[in-house]
Amino acid sequence: MRALLLGWTPSGTVCGIIGCVSDEEVAGVLLDGLKRVEYRGYDSAGMATVSGGAMEVRKGAGRVNDIEEKMRLSSMEGKIGIAHTRWATHGGVTDANAHPQTSCREQVAVVHNGIIQNYAQLKAALMKKGHRFKSETDTEVVAHIIEEEYKRTKDPLAATRAATKALKGQYAIAVMIQERPDVLVGARKDAPLIVGVGDGKMFLASDVLAFIGRTDRTIFLDNREVVEVTRTSVRIVEPSGKEVVRRPNQVAWELSDLSKSDYAHYTLKEINEQPHTVSNAYLQDREKLAEFARMIKGAKSLFITASGTSYHAALLMKFRLNEAGIMCDAVVSGELKEHAAFLRKGSVVVALSQSGETADTIEAVKVAKKRGAKVLSVVNAVGSSLARESEEVLLLNCGPEVGVAATKSFTAQVVVANMVVDAVLGMKRIRPAKGLTEAVRKALQMESKVVELAKRYADRSDFYFVARGYEAPVAMEGALKLKELSYIHAEGMPASELKHGTLALIEKGTPVIVVNPSGSNHADTLSSAEEMKARGAEVIGISDVRDDVYTHYVQVPALQSKLMPVVEVIPLQLLAYHMAVVRKNDPDYPRNLAKSVTVK
Ligand code: F6R
Repeated sequence: MRALLLGWTPSGTVCGIIGCVSDEEVAGVLLDGLKRVEYRGYDSAGMATVSGGAMEVRKGAGRVNDIEEKMRLSSMEGKIGIAHTRWATHGGVTDANAHPQTSCREQVAVVHNGIIQNYAQLKAALMKKGHRFKSETDTEVVAHIIEEEYKRTKDPLAATRAATKALKGQYAIAVMIQERPDVLVGARKDAPLIVGVGDGKMFLASDVLAFIGRTDRTIFLDNREVVEVTRTSVRIVEPSGKEVVRRPNQVAWELSDLSKSDYAHYTLKEINEQPHTVSNAYLQDREKLAEFARMIKGAKSLFITASGTSYHAALLMKFRLNEAGIMCDAVVSGELKEHAAFLRKGSVVVALSQSGETADTIEAVKVAKKRGAKVLSVVNAVGSSLARESEEVLLLNCGPEVGVAATKSFTAQVVVANMVVDAVLGMKRIRPAKGLTEAVRKALQMESKVVELAKRYADRSDFYFVARGYEAPVAMEGALKLKELSYIHAEGMPASELKHGTLALIEKGTPVIVVNPSGSNHADTLSSAEEMKARGAEVIGISDVRDDVYTHYVQVPALQSKLMPVVEVIPLQLLAYHMAVVRKNDPDYPRNLAKSVTVK
């Protein structure tokens, strides 16, 4: 089966949800879907089905495969069911806190992604009415409220709508009621939930990956909408109570993107996809690029906002815009509101996000819009919340990124950010930069050298990454990758800052990575390397030119300077990956993290 890599659908949530109502048994389908959204959260998992008029719930702490093994989820019977893989917010990682959560008599089962901020008050009120709680989760209150409302209305959609009115916070929920094995209900506010329209079956899911291969027809729900699906129908109700008819979108996808192929991990597969994904990133609409350029040039104040790895791409974009004489700032999304005085009518905010669902980034653009700013976004996930908040959207076109660590989305962001800046500068070319794909391939060929380094340094407790100018965000990205995959403390910074404190930490044997392409900063960065070496550091040079100061040298091909980060980051991604493998960490599922952070 084939489809373009051009965009895929909503991603990004802390917790993965899937529900299915079908003319066939659903357990296998749900289990399959659960494994595909597991990268969103992986501390516990569970499934509920209704069969023969009875609800059955099996769940527990652990990864999906552990729970499947322990509880044989695939043997559960029923043609309707909901399932969940969790990243704990409220309540520890225990069997009882795993989802689905149920009401007192297990009449109602709910899976949830998000946070119910007023759950404590709701819980107290429900307990007064005699409800008994089995978990410490915020989610359980939702099941109890729906139970009450269903008793009153005997209407699953009305009961869920009424319940959501009591909730404060964020949610994407899928609801199943024992008495109504023909109906699933979903609701969303500030967390993604989509409908998959199949033949004789319907899905509710936090991500299209959950049902790829079973249908490619998807309906995106808007904020605060409630949806009821049966095997053959979809009913969407707006917050006002009005029903809306929405036609499904055809989702472009490639089933093979979901397999690891011959790679040991998704992360390694995604690193190796980069020769292809960087050239796909060039598949941009000329008109949209021109509109980005027009708005950026006309902005009264200009911010680029993003979180984590995407923020490092934002820093690169800021650097190039500043170099072109355009004043702008790159601000981590969680902090943009602190710059509110500069956000007003005429301001433009460019938001970068792989998932398009990062809570901090969504909040930042909402604050900016409230103050009159216009929002442009660059996302990988078509139809994501961020895309829907934006005036104009450019897509990364790099296909689903399953590994929790952002890799191919970063290099795609660097390409698209450069195209935007080139358009601002009046350059017309939108074809892939000559030699880029080949250069990425060459950088990937350094893997065996990087494996040696990973083995040599895997027992270290601290790493430093330094660079100057345009390369400084690459150093920061290298440090972030190493922290999250290997759990080794790492810092990335401009080399100029070393003397202002960090040099005190350099001692015999300290590994320092220096990202140092030829160009105007080359000589100064070599001097910084010498200073560290003189204090005992083992300097690993990432550069297109060798130098004796490097204890180890990883060669990357020379490219136009604006694209050098694309090849420089590849050995750093490989180092973090191999360091994780040597240290026996799971690189696809680093501890305590989830792919995309939809809670604040
Ligand atoms: C790091 C990583 C995170 C994300 C960040 C933003 O490898 O994956 O730092 O970059 O959570 O996510 P998006 O780009 O989806 O907004």
